[in-house]
Amino acid sequence: MPVGPSPALPRGFEALAGDAIDFAGAQVRRLVTTQPGAFPIYTVGGRWHVEEEAWTNWTEGFLGGLIWIIARRTGDAWWREQAERYSLLIEPRKDDRSVHDLGFLFISTWKRWFEATGDPAKKATVVHAGRTMSLRFNEQGRYLRSFVSADSCFIDIMMNVGIIFEAARETGDADLLRIATEHCLTTRRHLVRGDGSTAHEAIFDLETGEFLRHGTHQGWRADSSWARGQAWALYGFGTAYALSGDGRFLDTAERCADFFLDRTGSRVVPPNDWEEPDPPRPYESSAAAIASSGLWQLAGLTADPARAARYRDATIAILARLASPEFLAVDDPAWEGILRHGVYHERRGLGVDESVMWGDYFFVEALDRVLESAGSDRP
Ligand code: GLY
Repeated sequence: MPVGPSPALPRGFEALAGDAIDFAGAQVRRLVTTQPGAFPIYTVGGRWHVEEEAWTNWTEGFLGGLIWIIARRTGDAWWREQAERYSLLIEPRKDDRSVHDLGFLFISTWKRWFEATGDPAKKATVVHAGRTMSLRFNEQGRYLRSFVSADSCFIDIMMNVGIIFEAARETGDADLLRIATEHCLTTRRHLVRGDGSTAHEAIFDLETGEFLRHGTHQGWRADSSWARGQAWALYGFGTAYALSGDGRFLDTAERCADFFLDRTGSRVVPPNDWEEPDPPRPYESSAAAIASSGLWQLAGLTADPARAARYRDATIAILARLASPEFLAVDDPAWEGILRHGVYHERRGLGVDESVMWGDYFFVEALDRVLESAGSDRP
């Protein structure tokens, strides 16, 4: 990942962030010790829900990723042992062709393991997963298909295409680079709108590759703006630029980021969908957590100092809000997650107004990134 900027942090932010990471560590330790080897996706009434798989199987890298971040920050052998254990538990997923989420699974875990050790075998696992991910490419429509069907492409896949760029860079395989680049260009053309907003899903004609229509699963409507999808887009296009140097992806990331910030405004944390009239809940905290990490990355990538300052300030504002008592579950000993007010899938009634594992992960990733680039790595 690119290195973010190194600004002076606002007074009190380092202590706030350090305390939030300490709380996150305590919550993760509780989960790992009380339910070893479990990979919950969301809480129910604040308790991690581990009974059955819900809708799709995409989140197992986030718990391991949280553990890797804490292991690196603390240098503690127990955390390191858990990080390796939770990474090994998901290793067979490197051959999983049923989901479009191998970036989520392996960048948060095995790439971190490689970075911690320099062991080429760990990098080989990431490359292997990247090759598996590339097999989802539809040549007619020039996109990586989503898990739901062959004619479907999701905005979320922008967060996973990076693992194909990584595999291309590592192997020099020009076809992998072509696939990753074409997927980003197709997403840019069909899922990012002229105002920088994004649609969740594009449906293509399987015979001809023609774009047919938009759809959504977790947003309000096909033509509305699902906040988490927007966060995936601003972060994913930023990563695509960082890994490819293709300026079109930086431009897209900036447009997506500007839309996210303009629409959220002084609320700092968005609702599940900006266009939904009278949304049932005011917040979708995981979208804010993802955006905060993606905005910090983007602040380090953009060539425009004013934009960099805007993205940096927005990251700090989001993290400070998420670390406040309204969102951080620090005052409720029974609550097992880290961040309250996340939403997984409102229509299906899954993880609504709860902690969600990726929200917790990206919150801690963003806090860690900000503290790291400001030179503070308080364990
Ligand atoms: N499946 C990715 C998401 O719910 O954002």
